[in-house]
Amino acid sequence: MPTISEFFSAQHRSCDALLGKMEAAVDRDDWQQAEILFDQVRAETLQHFENEEQGLFPLFEQATGMHQGPTQVMRSEHAELRELLQSLGAAMQAHDQNAALGTAETFFLFLQQHNVKEEQVLYPMADQALQDSLSALSEKVPGFAAGS
Ligand SMILES: [Fe+2]
Ligand SMILES: [Fe+2]
Repeated sequence: MPTISEFFSAQHRSCDALLGKMEAAVDRDDWQQAEILFDQVRAETLQHFENEEQGLFPLFEQATGMHQGPTQVMRSEHAELRELLQSLGAAMQAHDQNAALGTAETFFLFLQQHNVKEEQVLYPMADQALQDSLSALSEKVPGFAAGS
């Protein structure tokens, strides 16, 4: 079974790849494809945030007693990222190529900074702290298998 780091980091890579494909479609003015890809970007990103906010973060807080620490920072960054995703959605709907590419770039850069913090700090700490909570995590996170 994958570690928490591996599972959640793989979801980051998957969203990154979709976003890259979406930007390429916008770049070549293929709006039909771009909108399909945006829907996937949004769905995967929001599901990933849910996995963290409903699954990983509460269990992390419970196990470490750190309620006001890294998880709170990550939650507030999710809120900003959700707003950027909404702006991106508006630009996509308007078929505004400049706004879509600009907002996608801003979203991507912010997301990378966010993801690096999770991958370098939060996930490794979670791998240590949640060794006995993996089945609880798997109940909250679709696709995360706690093993046998
Ligand atoms: Fe996150
Ligand atoms: Fe994440």
